[in-house]
Formats: sequence, structure tokens, C-alpha cells
Amino acid sequence: MNIYRANIIHTPTPNAFEICPKAYICVGDDGCVEGIYEQLPSCYSASQVTDFGDHLLIPAFCDMHVHAPQYRNMGVAMDEELLQWLNKYTFPEEIRFAEMEHAQRMYSRFVHELWMQGTMRSAVFATSHIPATLVLADMFLQSGMGAYIGLVGMNRNCPQPLICDTEQHLAGLQTLMQYLHDRQKDEINPLCKPIVTPRFIPSCTPDMLEQLGRMAQQYNLPVQSHLSENMAEIEWVKELEPDVPTYAHAYHKYGLFGQTPTLMAHCCYTDGEEKELMRQSNVIAVHCPTSNSNLASGIAPIKQLLQANIPVALGTDVSGGNNLSVLRTIQYAIQLSKLQYAQYKRTVPFISLSEAFYMATKAGGSFFGNVGAFLKGYEFDALVVNDQYLNHDNYSLLHRIERYVYLGDDRDIVVRFCRGKEISKPRRL
Ligand code: GUN
Ligand code: FE
Repeated sequence: MNIYRANIIHTPTPNAFEICPKAYICVGDDGCVEGIYEQLPSCYSASQVTDFGDHLLIPAFCDMHVHAPQYRNMGVAMDEELLQWLNKYTFPEEIRFAEMEHAQRMYSRFVHELWMQGTMRSAVFATSHIPATLVLADMFLQSGMGAYIGLVGMNRNCPQPLICDTEQHLAGLQTLMQYLHDRQKDEINPLCKPIVTPRFIPSCTPDMLEQLGRMAQQYNLPVQSHLSENMAEIEWVKELEPDVPTYAHAYHKYGLFGQTPTLMAHCCYTDGEEKELMRQSNVIAVHCPTSNSNLASGIAPIKQLLQANIPVALGTDVSGGNNLSVLRTIQYAIQLSKLQYAQYKRTVPFISLSEAFYMATKAGGSFFGNVGAFLKGYEFDALVVNDQYLNHDNYSLLHRIERYVYLGDDRDIVVRFCRGKEISKPRRL
């Protein structure tokens, strides 16, 4: 049993923050929240309390779409749109993950920075290389942070060194599953899990997509990919898959769209039948506002997806996104939504701060189970934030969380927890 005291702020629902000033939170030995209390109940009175004084205690962040091998390209090479950008900058960098030394160095830096940014859970694309992906898995296992790790499926329309044929890729996925299983044998609910990751329709032959769909269903593995990010991409998918009404239906046809839990990044042009299929299939949309700006992809209709009861999480999508900060991603999601609101002649409301915060915590966290809020039975993933330099003359706690989102950064985080355990800084090579 651990008891912490701080200003507790979270979003059990998207509509509003729940704010508990100088409250106690009790965390069981299983790492799960037992309750939040204004006064400590007598049954806990024998336990030691860790008092974080006037600091904020918020849920740790969930980055639900990010490319680990693109870490070195973060903040550079943003002068092209998606398809040219992939060929000119992204594929050449991913090819380097055949070299284990490069993989070790860049993946250690990536995992280190996730930790810095307070991202305790993530859904990650690696590359098509099996040995390098095991290195990434190993680094997550050592870190104590939670992750879905995706060996990327790609066997067409890319440089030869990134091609991995269907059979080899499926064998690689088996190897990754076995590796994660063996390393977490004693865990009832392992923190690091495999995820089926076809890069996107243009990268995978129908045969690969079909086999991946089969494998996902056979082992009940979740799926992640890209959907309707860019107009030229959508046109290309229409040519490749002429018999289905939308891009989403192509994934669905292969068993890769909600047949098991599914994350789809971007959804910039998702509407009509595609939106309806998303809703019916319980697919989570992952909004990547920084990436959508940098690659000039478009403003995703996030409020419209939410209004259609489609869950929306947030992703940094490095290196389409130019940073790994979920705080900046929350900020940018709100700002883009406001631009869209103005552009749409105010017919669709913009998303609120609490809605965007919810996306970055509880909506993304739902993919990991009960994660992302401090409700009873939820895994205690938390950040202790010292915002004293941001807090002049006693702002309200609502204004303090707002200022932290808009002005704060990783330097303000003093302690990080994942599933009840304090997480120490991972080694950076
Ligand atoms: N679509 C296919 N691959 C990628 C990628 O690496 N990044 C982004 N943003 N979109 C993609
Ligand atoms: Fe992406």
C-alpha cells in the first residue's frame, strides 16, 4: 500500500476536470488505485503518507501513435507531403535499423525521451527489421513503462532493404510474441505487448494483409495502422483496392479493422461510410495534430468523430510530428480544432481543454485496460508536477493545469509512476 498527497487532477469524463485539492490517493500493492480522499480514512491511518506538498498529481500520458526509428528525423525534413516525405527522408532513415549499433543508440534515446516527456504508455511502430525490433522491446521491458510494440509489415512500394516478405514477417511477429511472453512469464498482465502493424495499405500486398488479419484473430492481437491521412494516399488506395467503398473498408476486408482492438492514426478525411464503419467497429482514431500540420495533411474532423461516438486518442507521430511532447500535442489539438471551427463558419464546436486532456490520458489508456484516470481499480500511472515557476499569485488549480498544458514541459515533472511503480530514468546510449 502506498499513499500520496497532492493536488490531484484528472479527467474521468471528457467534459470536465475532477480537481481534488491536497487530497490523498491510496494505491494498492497491485498498482491500482483504491480511492481518493479529502481526509484519510482511519483504516489507512497506520500507513506512511508521501506528501508532495503543493505539486500537481496528474495521469501520465499515452502516446498512441509514434514511430521509434524516426527519432533521429524529429524536427527535420518537413518540406514534403506524406508520400514524397516517406521516400525522400523516412524510408532512408528506417533502412539504417539493419545496423544494430544504430538501433541500440537511437532506440535508447527514444525510450529515454518518452520517459522524460511523462509518456508511460505508448503504441509504437518499429521497422520491418526483426533483430532491431527485439532491441526496442528489450528497452521497453527494462524501462518499466507500458507499450504496444509493432514490427512493421511492408512488402511492396518501398526500397528493397525495407521489404520483408509475408512469410518472414509472420515468423518475425511470432518471434516478437514469444520474446515478450518469455520475458514476462510471471506477469498476469504484461506491460509490453505485441501489436499487428501493417504500415498502410500501399505498403502491404493483399496476401500480407490477409495473413496479418488471420494472425490478429488467431492470437487475439490488436492492430495499428494509418488511415486517410493525405489526399494522394487516399487516391492511391482507391487504385489498389477498387472494390471497396472506402479506405477503412479495405482494412476491414482483411480482418484488420475492429475484428480485434484497433488503432487508426490520422483519419483526416474520414466521413460518411468510413466514419460509420469506424463507429460500428469500435476503432479508436488517433489524432496527430502536429504531424498533420507538418506534412500539410489536413485538419482531422475530431469533434465530428467524437460526436459520432468514435473514441479519439492522441499521438505525436514522430517524425511527422516534430516532438515527443504529449503536452504540446494536447495544445495543438485544441488550437487546430479552433481553426477548423472558424473555417467551418462556427457550425461545429471546438474541443475543450478537458476533452483534449482526456484524449491524452483516459481515451488512449483504454487500449491498455483501466489506465488514464484515478478511478478505483485503475492502474496508477501518474506524474508529479512541480509548477511553482508557472504559478504566480495563486492561480486556481484549473488555471494551473491549463498553464501547465500551454506552458509547461518535461522539466516540471519530478516523479513518474507506471502501474504503481516509480519509474527511473532509462539508460541513454
Ligand atoms: N503512412 C505510412 N507510413 C507513415 C509514416 O511513417 N508516417 C506517417 N505520418 N504516415 C505514414
Ligand atoms: Fe505514423
